[in-house]
Amino acid sequence: MTAERTQVAIIGAGPAGLTLAHVLHAHGIESVIIERRDRAYVERRLRAGVLEQGTVDLLRTLGLGARMDREGLVHHGINLQFGGERHRIALSELTGGRVITIYGQHEVVKDLIAARLAHGGQIAFGADDVSLHNITSDRPRVQFRHDGRLRELHCDVIAGCDGSHGVSRDAMPPGERQIFERAYPFSWLGILAAVPPSLGEVVYAHHEHGFALHSMRGPQITRLYVQCSPDDTLDSWPDERVWLELEARLSTTDGWTVQRGPVLEKSITTLRSVVMEPMQHGQLFLAGDAAHVVPPTGAKGMNLAVADARVLGEALACWYRRGDRNGLDDYSATCLRRVWRAEHFSWWMTSMLHRFPGHDAFQERLQLSQLRYVCRSTAAATSLAENYVGLEHV
Ligand code: APR
Ligand code: PHB
Repeated sequence: MTAERTQVAIIGAGPAGLTLAHVLHAHGIESVIIERRDRAYVERRLRAGVLEQGTVDLLRTLGLGARMDREGLVHHGINLQFGGERHRIALSELTGGRVITIYGQHEVVKDLIAARLAHGGQIAFGADDVSLHNITSDRPRVQFRHDGRLRELHCDVIAGCDGSHGVSRDAMPPGERQIFERAYPFSWLGILAAVPPSLGEVVYAHHEHGFALHSMRGPQITRLYVQCSPDDTLDSWPDERVWLELEARLSTTDGWTVQRGPVLEKSITTLRSVVMEPMQHGQLFLAGDAAHVVPPTGAKGMNLAVADARVLGEALACWYRRGDRNGLDDYSATCLRRVWRAEHFSWWMTSMLHRFPGHDAFQERLQLSQLRYVCRSTAAATSLAENYVGLEHV
């Protein structure tokens, strides 16, 4: 067994773990990232792609924004569709000029990995059998198998950034944590298509066949989703069926519809809401999906992961610099305020836009009333807009 030492052991090279490593580096704090998958896998994994203003600002401050600023698409609004009509929510006008940036999560991940390695940072890709030890002592350690040998990393703090299927959350003693969750009775089937977006902005559509979403990854690539049954497999969704449903759910009565193109990727995502409280125990701190999951309606997942990493990184910097533990002690409470706001927002968007089992005329009228209110009332539209671009103070 090889014994090594670092200040912060980070488990997981997703947006949470990578952002944390960069925030720590900016404060002169050393870390090692331990990642189960190989680099190519992590860099190719397709996820959502809407960055809040605060996420963009942080990446720029850390010197990680160059490609995002060149290739990301800045959007000033989103669209809600129902009854075959499109209604624009003017995000920037309603939020004092704030914007969202369309830039795929895996592009962020690629930029963060490249910069981390260029700074001489260590990322152990392809690590197996990761286990956490002594998390309530001031000498925690992480063991893992890597490149055929057993490694032991001694550290001051462990950051569990290993997503919703990782090992870190299970290291929290069951008696010391509470889990809050909701499963939704539907999934999203998503495709990436080699065709220019049919509209310059994101469209969320309410339709009697179920929800649909039009988004994009660049001037030549469209990202589209349709609500499907949680039991569906990719076999039940040949390309032709996907396009027919997208056309049915996204077309407007003025003749606009989605343009078809070669399907580059197709996958199914389940929708759930999960929060673990607290997000810390001893010297173990959870960040991102390891501590909470949101349904993708509202695109909050990556933004929450980055926000946790910033709070944790700054709290660790105060602790190392001045021995001040207040930020670390308050870590969970600070993050959970933002997390629960995003949990509510994404649950609310999901409830307003999807078709539920047992969906009846009453539910339909409630959804349509809510949609009309959000589109016609400046107060309601502002509430949606400020949540969508990301609330600074929650
Ligand atoms: N050991 C080491 N690494 C692990 C382990 C493990 N046992 N289990 C999982 N991992 C890795 C995963 O391979 C992944 O690269 O941890 C990383 C977690 O990254 P994400 O799942 O991207 O989670 P996070 O960084 O919190 O970012 C949240 O990702 O799932 C999306 O929608 C979500 O956009 C949100 C974002
Ligand atoms: C995406 O572009 O993948 C996307 C956009 C908005 C969402 C979810 C996903 O709410």
